[in-house]
Amino acid sequence: MQQTRSARHSQKALLSDAEVYRAKTPNSLKMFEQASMIMPGGQSHNARFFEPYPFYAQKARGKYIWDVDGNRYVDYWMGHTALILGHSPAVVASTLKQQSTNGLLLGSPNRYAFELASLVNKVVPCAESLRFCTTGAEATMYAVRLARAFTKKSTIVKMAGGWHGYSSALTVGVSPPYDMPESAGLISDDERLVKLAKFNDIEKTKEAMDAVAGDLAGLIVEPVVGAGGTIPATKEYLEFLKKRCAELGAVLIFDEIITGFRLGLGGAQEYYQIKPDLCTLGKILGGGLPVSAVAGSSEIMSLADVNHKSKTQRCWIGGGTFSENALCMKAGIATLGFLMRNRKSLYKNLNRLAEDLRTSVDRIFSENGIRTKSTGAGSLFTTHFLSEDQDDILSPSDASAAKKAAQKDYYFSLIARNGIYFIPGHLGAISTAHSRSDIDQFLHATEEYAKRRELLAVSGKAQ
Ligand SMILES: Cc1ncc(COP(=O)(O)O)c(C=O)c1O
Repeated sequence: MQQTRSARHSQKALLSDAEVYRAKTPNSLKMFEQASMIMPGGQSHNARFFEPYPFYAQKARGKYIWDVDGNRYVDYWMGHTALILGHSPAVVASTLKQQSTNGLLLGSPNRYAFELASLVNKVVPCAESLRFCTTGAEATMYAVRLARAFTKKSTIVKMAGGWHGYSSALTVGVSPPYDMPESAGLISDDERLVKLAKFNDIEKTKEAMDAVAGDLAGLIVEPVVGAGGTIPATKEYLEFLKKRCAELGAVLIFDEIITGFRLGLGGAQEYYQIKPDLCTLGKILGGGLPVSAVAGSSEIMSLADVNHKSKTQRCWIGGGTFSENALCMKAGIATLGFLMRNRKSLYKNLNRLAEDLRTSVDRIFSENGIRTKSTGAGSLFTTHFLSEDQDDILSPSDASAAKKAAQKDYYFSLIARNGIYFIPGHLGAISTAHSRSDIDQFLHATEEYAKRRELLAVSGKAQ
């Protein structure tokens, strides 16, 4: 038996990552092929695709996700970083069970929305007032509309490489080359009114803001750029944005869809001690169910109270049919309640694990002659493979100039050989379901990978 296992092990070592993956995921391949006939790309979110085909999930619990072939993975993608308590945590599952027979979509103002709003108001520094909606894309779209309504100006500055969801208003300058339209079907007027700034670069951002100073409605920024490379802003950069927005009378919007309740209970604004005029929240807010919010100063948010305003005065933002859905509100209340009760030790533990992972991954690669930079803040992380002329990753353009193929290769190898799941090229998030031993397994897998790459480099087969 022992011999059979070691024979299997050495046979696996001879296969490429793609061969190992294909051999263990035949049902996923079949489902991908069939799904692609009735759904473009075989699924509904572009980020979820990876080469040669994504696995199809069957179920998930705690730190694990299982695919339709029965393979189990330790999940660090964690529902696009939404699941800070892991999959189906008991505290959320039990409240959902109880609510499921008491009304799902009440379609009326309800006590659960009021309760969740009260929690957000208590812990998020800028959230004097808020409105719930369902997706992050809606929240950022409404934030932009509010900024325009409040200032009576039109132009928005966003970061090159910043991601705020699929609304037409902000699907601009997301991926390089940043000056090309992101998609067919977008209207050039949307693009004309969005100007790009370079993240973490005060001089270039000042230039971008000053060039449109007379018409600048607002600036939207992820305090830790997520999809663009998991890159934290420097404190000086955010301080500059706050000061310059105030000087120009523009609305500062922190997109905290990822960082909200992640960097700490009060999100990035608490972590950096900088209060924006508006912020957007999502992901963790819904505890695994779809909830988002736009929040901020009462003065700006009051524009959304359209009951007594004429058509020319109001800022007509909604929330949509499914906003304040009782099930979603209860999941959010349970999640925020848990985070509030455990805030001291919980964030300290998560952040310490991620900090160790970031530094240890870089050390392991360095010991094997590979230059990497693991970025992130709090419990978020991504590893970049530095190009010859790079020493650091400070902006999304740095991230895209790094060796993207090597990064994807690393993450794909973890999926194929080690049962460690990320979407190759995206960010990882540690949840309370992960423990020290998971990080050790991650580092062990990284060491195996680094040594294999070194061997391939020696034999001239590395990318
Ligand atoms: C920073 C940021 N803003 C907005 C969004 C859009 O959120 P959603 O996918 O819920 O529309 C995302 C999604 O990943 C995000 O990372």
